[in-house]
Amino acid sequence: MNQVPKKSPSKEEVKNAYHLLRSEVPMSNNFLNIKHQRVLPFATYCPWLDDRSFLDIYSKAQSHTLVDIYRCFELWELAKQSLSIEGNILEVGVWRGGTGSILATAVKDSKKQVFLADTFTGVVKAGSNDTNYIGGEHSDTSYDLVNTYLSSLNLSNFKLLKGIFPEDTGGDYQGPIAMLHCDVDVYSSAKDIINWALPRLSSSGILVFDDYGFYGCEGVTSYCNELRLNVNFTFIHNLNGHAIFVKK
Ligand SMILES: C[S@@+](CC[C@H](N)C(=O)[O-])C[C@H]1O[C@@H](n2cnc3c(N)ncnc32)[C@H](O)[C@@H]1O
Repeated sequence: MNQVPKKSPSKEEVKNAYHLLRSEVPMSNNFLNIKHQRVLPFATYCPWLDDRSFLDIYSKAQSHTLVDIYRCFELWELAKQSLSIEGNILEVGVWRGGTGSILATAVKDSKKQVFLADTFTGVVKAGSNDTNYIGGEHSDTSYDLVNTYLSSLNLSNFKLLKGIFPEDTGGDYQGPIAMLHCDVDVYSSAKDIINWALPRLSSSGILVFDDYGFYGCEGVTSYCNELRLNVNFTFIHNLNGHAIFVKK
C-alpha cells in the first residue's frame, strides 16, 4: 500500500532531483532516431492516494503487473470514463492479469464486458522495427494463472482470449470498442491490433498504448507516431509513458 510521505519534497528538492536525473547520459536508438532521457515531471498532485477503491485493487494487482501505479491509475480513470462510451473494453497484452484486473474492477458495476487477450506464451511478431524484443518474452504466465487470479477477486465481467490477437481470437470479441489497452511491446502486433480495432472503435473511443514512452519499445513508439498522422484522433503523450488516442 502506498502511503502519503510525511513531508512532501519542496519544489527546490524536486528540481534538484530532476537535474540529477537529467545529468544521466541520454539514451537513443539511433536507427529509429528516437531519443530518450529520464522524464521527471515537477507536478506533485497524487489523486490515487485518496482513492480507496483504486488502492485496494492496485495492492492486489501489484504482484501481477509490470505496470507502475501512474499508468495503472490512468487505466482505472479512463475505464471509468469509458462508461459513457458505447461498447466494451479490450486489453491485448495481459501477462499475469494485473492491468486487466484494474480495468475489470473499474467497470464491474456496469454492463460492460472486459475482454483480455494474450497468447499466454509470450510476445509474438517481433521484427526489424523493434530494437529489443526478439519474441517469446513474458511467457512466465498461463491462462489458468490469470483465470484463478481474476476469479479470486470475485470478478465475473471478464472473458479471457487465448491466442494471437486478432488472428486467433479477434472473432471472440463482441460489440463495439469503448476502450482498448494495447500492451504488446512490438510494432507489428500493435499495428495489426489497431487495424482490426479501428472499424469497431466507437465515437469518443479511447486507445491507450502502454509502451510509447519506454526504452526498448521503440517499435510501438514508431507505430504510434505513424498513427498520429490520422486526423480522426486527438493524441496525448502522457509523460508517464502512455500514448492516448481519442476518436473524434
Ligand atoms: C508486457 S506484457 C503485458 C503486461 C500486462 N499488461 C501487465 O499488467 O503487466 C505483453 C504481453 O503481450 C502479449 N502479446 C504480445 N503480442 C500479442 C498478440 N498479438 N496477441 C496476444 N498477446 C500478445 C505477450 O504474450 C505478453 O504477455
